Amino acid sequence: MYNAFFGLKESPFSLTPDPAFLYRSAQHEEALANLIYGVQSRKGFLVLTGEVGTGKTTMLECLQDYLAAQRVDYAFLFNSRLTVEQFFEMICYDLDLRCAKTSKTEVLIALNQRLVQNANEGRTTALILDEAHNLEWDVLEEVRLLGNLDSRREKLLQIVLAGQPEFDRKLDAPSLRQLKQRIALRCTLQPFREAETGEYIATRLARAGLPEQTIFSPELIAEIHLRSQGIPRLINAICDNLLLTAFAMESKQAELEMLEEVTSDLRLEWPGRRISRSPERYPNELREPTM
Ligand SMILES: Nc1ncnc2c1ncn2[C@@H]1O[C@H](COP(=O)(O)OP(=O)(O)O)[C@@H](O)[C@H]1O
Ligand SMILES: [Mg+2]
Repeated sequence: MYNAFFGLKESPFSLTPDPAFLYRSAQHEEALANLIYGVQSRKGFLVLTGEVGTGKTTMLECLQDYLAAQRVDYAFLFNSRLTVEQFFEMICYDLDLRCAKTSKTEVLIALNQRLVQNANEGRTTALILDEAHNLEWDVLEEVRLLGNLDSRREKLLQIVLAGQPEFDRKLDAPSLRQLKQRIALRCTLQPFREAETGEYIATRLARAGLPEQTIFSPELIAEIHLRSQGIPRLINAICDNLLLTAFAMESKQAELEMLEEVTSDLRLEWPGRRISRSPERYPNELREPTM
């Protein structure tokens, strides 16, 4: 809507986890390198945790692009609210296994055959599970068992689990102790530091067609950082709304008053804020990605 006004070719602050807009912060770079290394060297279980909106799904999308380019055979389950039956159905569907999707036994047999065949051909097989904190206990138990499948030398299925910090607490349960012990690699995403928030905003704007942005002043970026707490998803929501407001006011620059209006509309809370408007830290529509 506002793109032409600012000379943008694309929307810079969309809420979709698009790898094309990746800002390679040191920690995102490290997390991605770890995930790629872990899958490639067949480490078994890999875990990525981070607060809501810190970039977990974006990392998985980047990993997926890499795996596809490397001809790794993988299943990507982004909806974790599954029954055991649905879990196996999804694996069967994603890996295109030739068997009765609704029979767990048949899926397991077909999966096992595929794993052995891939291993013989030197091909890696991976299972990626997003929103792992929502997985039911019985599904987690199946995940654990799948992670047990191995040849004499290595794990046959590489399993990447991404979830919010409560997933770590779930892994502390006695029934999951064995899975926890088998996690070969862990990475955590933290919110951005202030300098990173500035680079992040500049990177996204540059990717969308504005290499030298002058819309957001350094002072305003410092304030955006404070109010977003360095969470990428919130930075996107704030910046998108700021661009819209500036456009409506025919201004090529975003101003502090506009930020006041935007953060109040988004009902954001941040440390040092005087009036508490809402018991929630930020509204529900910003908690989950809009895909
Ligand atoms: N390193 C990054 N580079 C570019 N965009 C990012 C980065 N990290 C997060 N984002 C953006 O922030 C938003 C939330 O990211 P997402 O991966 O959905 O977070 P999570 O899965 O942890 O809740 C998305 O719009 C995504 O594009
Ligand atoms: Mg996500």
